Order: sequence, then C-alpha cells, then structure tokens
Amino acid sequence: MRSTGRKSIGIRDIASIHSSAPSVWTKNNPSTREDEDSSFDWFKSYGEISSTIHDIIPDKAARILMLGCGNSKLTEEMYDDGYKNIANIDYSQVVIDKMQRRHAGRRPELTWLEMDIRDLKFADDAFDVAIDKGTMDAMMTSKGDVWDPPAQVIEDCDREVMEVVR
Ligand SMILES: C[S@@+](CC[C@H](N)C(=O)[O-])C[C@H]1O[C@@H](n2cnc3c(N)ncnc32)[C@H](O)[C@@H]1O
Repeated sequence: MRSTGRKSIGIRDIASIHSSAPSVWTKNNPSTREDEDSSFDWFKSYGEISSTIHDIIPDKAARILMLGCGNSKLTEEMYDDGYKNIANIDYSQVVIDKMQRRHAGRRPELTWLEMDIRDLKFADDAFDVAIDKGTMDAMMTSKGDVWDPPAQVIEDCDREVMEVVR
C-alpha cells in the first residue's frame, strides 16, 4: 500500500480542537447512533481542501483508502467530484452500517468496511492513496498528554503508519 503526497496541520490546532472533545472517538461512540442523515466533518470540509486533493490525487481513478471515515461527507463529495474508487474503513460498525445504508443506492462503487486502521486486512499495494483526516489526531489525543504521549498512543500511531506504507 502506498501513500502519495503529504499535507499536515499543526499539532497545536489538533490539541486545541480535541481538548474540547476529550475521548470522543471511542469505538462505541454514542454520537454515531444519531439519526440516519446526520453527518459531521472534523477540521475541514471537502470544499476547503478540494484544491489540495486535486493536486495530490490528479488521477480520479486512483484507488483511495479513507482511514477512519466516520460520518464525514468527505467521501461522498469526493465521489461526486469524480473519485469513484474509495474504500472507507472505520472501527465503528454502527457508523459503517449507517454510511453503507446512506450511500448504497446513489454511490454504488463505494465500499464500507468495519476495520481497525492499526490492522488493515488488505493486500500490499491495494491502494494508491490513503487519506487520514482527523483519525490519527483522535488516537493521539485519546489518552494522556498530547505533548508527552503515553507509549500506547505512540505504538497505535506507529502501527497505523506501518500498515499504510506496506
Ligand atoms: C475525529 S473522527 C474523524 C472522522 C472523519 N475522518 C472526518 O474527517 O470527519 C475519527 C474517526 O476515526 C475512527 N477511528 C478512531 N480510531 C480508529 C481505529 N483505530 N480504527 C479505525 N477507525 C478509527 C472513529 O470511529 C471516528 O469515526
């Protein structure tokens, strides 16, 4: 699996956002059980990052892996912009079921799978691009001090990176 192109936001931005929402993203996050149509985009909407996405992924047929999709609109807006080949994973079965139901009819090429980003079940080189918007950030801020993360947080982030680059 290859990841091409990198853009980052500052850790101060991440910490300030997550300090107001501690431990929100747990596997059984009750907010994922909200009504069927609810959606929420962490950090930025597709409209705000689409020019960056176009630069990083010029090929609309690219095989894209969305890491920790949540109930964000990023995938559907990328799809409607021509990126049809997106596999979406999240470790919340609730959110995956909901996104599957929401998009099955209008966006049939999308796939939605319950999977842990630290233990990807895909073959090597299955994707051209991996997108993580807010997911490693959630892991980084899930426990302890983001400025001095506990060993478990460092290991979790390391495992995600090692899975994505294999
Ligand atoms: C802060 S939200 C970001 C959601 C979305 N990417 C966005 O931009 O709005 C983090 C998401 O990552 C998921 N997540 C956190 N840790 C994960 C893990 N180890 N494996 C898979 N998904 C995970 C959560 O369930 C949640 O949906």
